[in-house]
Amino acid sequence: MRVLTIIPTYNEIESLPKTLARLRAAVPHSDVLVVDDNSPDGTGGWADDFAAGDGQVHVLHRAGKEGLGAAYLAGFAWGLAAGYEVLVEMDADGSHKPEQLPLLLDAVDQGADLVLGSRWVPGGEVVNWPLHRKVISTCGSLYSRVLLGISIRDVTGGYRAFRRSTLEALDFSAVASVGYGFQVDMLWRVVQQGMRVVEVPITFVEREFGASKMSGNIVQEAMLNVTKWGLSARWNTLKGKIRGTRVSQ
Ligand code: GDD
Ligand code: MN
Repeated sequence: MRVLTIIPTYNEIESLPKTLARLRAAVPHSDVLVVDDNSPDGTGGWADDFAAGDGQVHVLHRAGKEGLGAAYLAGFAWGLAAGYEVLVEMDADGSHKPEQLPLLLDAVDQGADLVLGSRWVPGGEVVNWPLHRKVISTCGSLYSRVLLGISIRDVTGGYRAFRRSTLEALDFSAVASVGYGFQVDMLWRVVQQGMRVVEVPITFVEREFGASKMSGNIVQEAMLNVTKWGLSARWNTLKGKIRGTRVSQ
């Protein structure tokens, strides 16, 4: 299967070279698309130079920082237009081990429509994450599980493999979340389509260089959206039940 790994970057000049080298070595058959939001530290220019010497690496330049979601949507559109059959999401900062990508691709081979690299299933783990990030991530996943009524453990994770047909079935141009809530947004759309989601355990290693782009706004956006989607799903179920009762009377 033709695989494209999409790596969004914003100021990852110290991390991207290592991640790219590891990815090219670990999964040489995967092409790569770096989606850079005009990083002030020159990540985009560095990626261009690398791509000039490696025909399997491509770079998409965007005018400015518009968030993780917008970068991925542009990357998906590029990858679908270029005919890739599997589209992978991977962070640039080394948190997602390129050496574990075959685990995700195997699950796609076995029929999954969407594979989630998961920190919160047995065998999954997080290395060097500060306590507050662990708390936000596990509580966020728990809250989403309860509100959305799903059994998935890691709803915000950003190491994923989409089958082409999964993205084609979603109207992903309508995805509005810009921050990490984008991950929950995409997952919720896939779940609502009744498609097959599989979690595989991964080891998430906190970045060595640079800084996370996580912010209070990002968390707030995700929480608000999950609440909205959860309530709206419940409301629709309730409406369906009321209608059903009326019909049977
Ligand atoms: N192009 C672009 N534009 N890239 C971005 C932007 C943006 O606005 N914001 C972040 N990125 C890139 C980073 O450069 C990095 O490669 C990746 O997206 C993840 O960003 P981090 O800032 O390192 O995220 P994190 O470590 O705090 O968050 C991780 O955990 C989140 C919560 O579980 C990631 O795995 C997220 O995907 C995940 O949702
Ligand atoms: Mn990170």
